[in-house]
Amino acid sequence: VRQPFVVAVDGPAAAGKGTLAKRLADEIGLPYLDTGLLYRAVARRMLDASEDPAHTSGLEQAEGLSPEDLLRGDLRVPEVDRAASLVARQPEVRHALVGVQRRFADERGAVLDGRDIGTVIFPDALVKLYVTASPAARALRRYLQTGGDTTRPGWEEELREIETSIRARDEADSAREAAPLRMAEDAVMIVTDDMDANAVLAEAIRIVRERLAAAD
Ligand code: CDP
Ligand code: CDP
Repeated sequence: VRQPFVVAVDGPAAAGKGTLAKRLADEIGLPYLDTGLLYRAVARRMLDASEDPAHTSGLEQAEGLSPEDLLRGDLRVPEVDRAASLVARQPEVRHALVGVQRRFADERGAVLDGRDIGTVIFPDALVKLYVTASPAARALRRYLQTGGDTTRPGWEEELREIETSIRARDEADSAREAAPLRMAEDAVMIVTDDMDANAVLAEAIRIVRERLAAAD
């Protein structure tokens, strides 16, 4: 039996996981899932229901998640960043989201990005990538990605705020007990500080080819 072709892309916030995973999926002709959207959508539903993810279980909202929830435009805002990281600590929420992630790669395979794809969701993934960069580089990426402009007065303060929140989220994601952010033992790390998105994609393709050749 041929196992599904799964590529796991994990790493900290704004490392370029999604950009890489999407382009890699296009390149090799597999579907792509941004698993962070699942946690963001659960968090969004909780905030809309005035539930505090620091003190309330998100299980009900996770079980009520619909595909439309993942298409909402208000999932990538600072309050959802924070709330998603809080809800992602809850073991029952993580557990409720395992099935949908595994089913996504049924039969053919998929490229998924997140925090625990290579460690928990697909421990047998054919290829595991751990994409990272310094907090300063990642903060600048997120700043520019969300309309930031380094010619605007006060940009340094805006950038500092983003770096502070990214560091806080990394710390929370790494320190939690349930599926913490860490590199799988058999993952390949790509440190992207001095690489643009094209260079990261090229490196990832090289690693995929190498793994395929080794698996033959
Ligand atoms: O795009 P960014 O890296 O900023 O965040 P994301 O991938 O959308 O993830 C948002 C939050 O969801 C993270 O800070 C994690 O707390 C959580 N998450 C997780 O715990 N496990 C995953 N597989 C994906 C996201
Ligand atoms: O998914 P994650 O939060 O890890 O990051 P992303 O949303 O894919 O990427 C954050 C931003 O960094 C995007 O605007 C990318 O164009 C940019 N970027 C990148 O993805 N890879 C690089 N090597 C350099 C910049």
